Amino acid sequence: MSDLVQIDAKFEPRIVAFFCNWCTYLAADLAGTSRIKYAPNTRVIRVMCSGRVDPQFVLDAFAKGADGVLIGGCHPNDCHYQEGNYKALRRFHLLKRMVRQMGIEEERLRLEWISAAEGDRVRVVIDDMVEKIRALGPLKRQPAAEPAAEEVTAA
Ligand code: FES
Repeated sequence: MSDLVQIDAKFEPRIVAFFCNWCTYLAADLAGTSRIKYAPNTRVIRVMCSGRVDPQFVLDAFAKGADGVLIGGCHPNDCHYQEGNYKALRRFHLLKRMVRQMGIEEERLRLEWISAAEGDRVRVVIDDMVEKIRALGPLKRQPAAEPAAEEVTAA
């Protein structure tokens, strides 16, 4: 038998994408109107700024079935709210550490700066992320822990 990692051909990664209203969301729109084809595995959620992406949104997405989470925002110095994307970047580094400690591969979380004019970059990033997550396979979630006996009786 081959030592190669078996890739489930039927596995279609589910990616939740939080796109900033002013840049990456417009880039995705441009990709659509330009008829640029990219993998259909992404569900886009529009946020006003990448800095609006609360870490809990990312953790909830993973907990509720996402195999990957993509955050897209304006390039540095282009954020419409001055420094929202720097806030997103700081949170991203913290989130990466957090998800790693939860047993989630870092590659499942990605942050990209994509301006409104970069429709083709949306295709490149999404296609690349889908392929990488397809190679990783579905996210294996831990079953929820049973509450301790003391917690049940204390309620
Ligand atoms: S407005 Fe786009 S990242 Fe802040």
